[in-house]
Amino acid sequence: EESKKVVLVEDASLAVAQQIRIQDSVKSRNTRVKVFGWVHRQRVQGKDMMFIVLRDGTGYLQCVLTDRLCHTYDALTLTVESAIAVYGEIKEVPAGKTAPDGHELVVDYWHVVGKAPGGDDSFANRVNEESDPSLLLQQRHLVLRGDRASSILKIRARVMRAFRDHFDGNGYFEVTPPCMVQTEVEGGSTLFEFNYYGEKAYLTQSSQLYLETCLPSMGAVYTLSESYRAEKSNTRRHLSEYTHCEAEIPFISFNDLLDTIEAMVKGVVNRVWDEPATRAMITQLNPGFKPYTEPFVRMRYEEAIKWLNDNGIKRAEDGKDFEFGDDIPEAPERKMTDTINKPILLTHFPGPIKAFYMPATKEDPRVTESVDLLMPNVGEVVGGSMRIWDHDQLLAAFQRQGLNPDVYYWYLDQRKYGTCPHGGFGLGIERFIAWITNSHTVRECCLYPRFVGRCQP
Ligand code: 4AD
Repeated sequence: EESKKVVLVEDASLAVAQQIRIQDSVKSRNTRVKVFGWVHRQRVQGKDMMFIVLRDGTGYLQCVLTDRLCHTYDALTLTVESAIAVYGEIKEVPAGKTAPDGHELVVDYWHVVGKAPGGDDSFANRVNEESDPSLLLQQRHLVLRGDRASSILKIRARVMRAFRDHFDGNGYFEVTPPCMVQTEVEGGSTLFEFNYYGEKAYLTQSSQLYLETCLPSMGAVYTLSESYRAEKSNTRRHLSEYTHCEAEIPFISFNDLLDTIEAMVKGVVNRVWDEPATRAMITQLNPGFKPYTEPFVRMRYEEAIKWLNDNGIKRAEDGKDFEFGDDIPEAPERKMTDTINKPILLTHFPGPIKAFYMPATKEDPRVTESVDLLMPNVGEVVGGSMRIWDHDQLLAAFQRQGLNPDVYYWYLDQRKYGTCPHGGFGLGIERFIAWITNSHTVRECCLYPRFVGRCQP
């Protein structure tokens, strides 16, 4: 009751407080500052001292409130996740004490901006780390505030920037193809169909075909766009909507394509690793991680089949040995990648298990100029290939797959007006982040995951 009477007033004789963000707190030490943020953690020490770890998205700042400052009603009822404003000077913590950045804000005035509830509706009750994963997904808008989720999303932002920097620095142009389309790229079974003003249309599975149309005007191009797959299976690496980093390059050989993929993965990892703040977050989440400097393993599909058989890994459906022509499912692929424990460029898949646009090799018409990049703990993160560039061969490929060439007239035109050998690839951003952060599932590696049974929040 007494506390309701304690009213704080800012001391007008103090220097005017400059508003800063926590990322600038080191350079603002020993001047009077004002910081807005959310109460990440709080700890009361006796009756006259309270510690708050404040979070503003740019960092964490320990704040110490003493005496009257922690006697107010707001102080006594303060809850985690309340938005507050704190004023004071940032001082190095005394020797032997630890705090983020080795300093703390010694508060001289503060107030609440937006209070969070306590009791049954408290943040801790809504977001309990022990909760069932589906419950946490339902509360994902709150889960995002946690250390782990926010670090992953920040790493993701840096990774996406690194991809852009990598491509821009290597002479590619970025393009933004449409997501509403009338053609399939990766097989009809995973198409999301919708009504487009009375016509049948789909959410795109890949921007590849559009990237190919850009080559004669812009040369090498890339995009970071959403792709959609109506995946019926619930796995740790499949989403219904994912961010797809795709690139397409003219006048290259299949070997150039493999080198390009390897250089991109290494280049992007080096870029994010070179940023101290990003490196610190990655190390926190994935202590063993470091950039991979050795050449990636290059292995043909046929060798992978032999590896599976030599290592006693059998087909799930009949317990028999794998045979040439079999699709290598997720589990055996993972087993192989985790055992070899190195990035693997797996190449030369048989035509029938791959997409219509992949060309057969000259030496062996049974296999195609195709590649998957497999990473330990995740499996496939990149899929790519050369593209059939002869008009009649492409037409035959459409017919083989039962696709109507008429709707692909614009794609076939590329083979008519100055065709050229070219290739490209697609990388799933969530899988790449799962690899870097050692996340169990890609569902943690995007803002609001979409998969069978979930389209919320
Ligand atoms: O292997 P995919 O299907 O290849 C393509 O779409 C090509 N058209 C790309 C190209 O050559 N431009 O998909 C490429 C990558 C996969 O390696 C995987 O990382 C990711 O996209 N991916 C998915 N990520 C999350 N959820 C899904 N359902 C995914 N499907 C593919």
